[in-house]
Amino acid sequence: MRTAFFFVRVLRARIETMKNQKLLRKKLVIGNWKMNPETLDEAKKIFLGIGKAVAPIKKVLIVVCPPNLYVAELKKFKGGPVLGVQDIFFEMNGSYTGFTSPLMAKNSGAEFAIIGHSERRQQGESDEAVNRKVLAAIKSNLFVVLCIGEETRSGDGQYLEVIKKQIESALQNVSKKMLKNVVIAYEPVWTIGAKEPMEPRDLHEMKLYIRKILIGIFGVDAGAVVPILYGGSVLPENALAITAEGEVDGLLVGRESLNPENFAAIVSAVSSIK
Ligand code: PGA
Repeated sequence: MRTAFFFVRVLRARIETMKNQKLLRKKLVIGNWKMNPETLDEAKKIFLGIGKAVAPIKKVLIVVCPPNLYVAELKKFKGGPVLGVQDIFFEMNGSYTGFTSPLMAKNSGAEFAIIGHSERRQQGESDEAVNRKVLAAIKSNLFVVLCIGEETRSGDGQYLEVIKKQIESALQNVSKKMLKNVVIAYEPVWTIGAKEPMEPRDLHEMKLYIRKILIGIFGVDAGAVVPILYGGSVLPENALAITAEGEVDGLLVGRESLNPENFAAIVSAVSSIK
């Protein structure tokens, strides 16, 4: 009996891994609603609006990350975008007032967790906490959207070191197998909530640099396949150039993900890339 249970568990884990690998082969567009909207009714309206607007698009995996409180309610709408949370804590349960555990997120219907967003780092989140959260999220079989990005840029290339350190510390003790659950979102902080995104040519350079770091840590087989997204002032009118010329695997969208029409236009631009 015990052996039978063991095999069922192994089989389930295998199926889950295969599903995961397939899922991340598509281009990705992730919407981060941040601390919006103010009511559940409004959240439902936006979520349904997005679902309707993106329904014909099959080539892109669409993820919406509302405030945690809304996840379980939005999950009730079948066939809508995949859901994610904007942060999780690194413990599974216990005396941690106000936190959400990765297991709670998963059990409420989230499949993705944004971790290390610059708005959380600005609130004091350390590299060590980011690493613990990454490990805890993977353990709960969530996909991690690991946010990295320099606050400013100067001519001396210091930002390259910042990025390298963020990746190395966030992915400490992550194995090649665990890496299959990780997506990197490169978000230069100076482009978040700004007027303009990063120049696609500069983004392409950064993407290659991030890829090189990943391959350096995990080897070509694992490091070369981690999706690398861009985030920071993505708008319908710049989404195509950013994705195509930046050669990224998708986008992390902030404010425009609250506007179903604009979000769908971004998804559609990404979908048009061969
Ligand atoms: P923005 O936000 O698209 O509003 O610039 C991006 C983000 O914070 O992920």
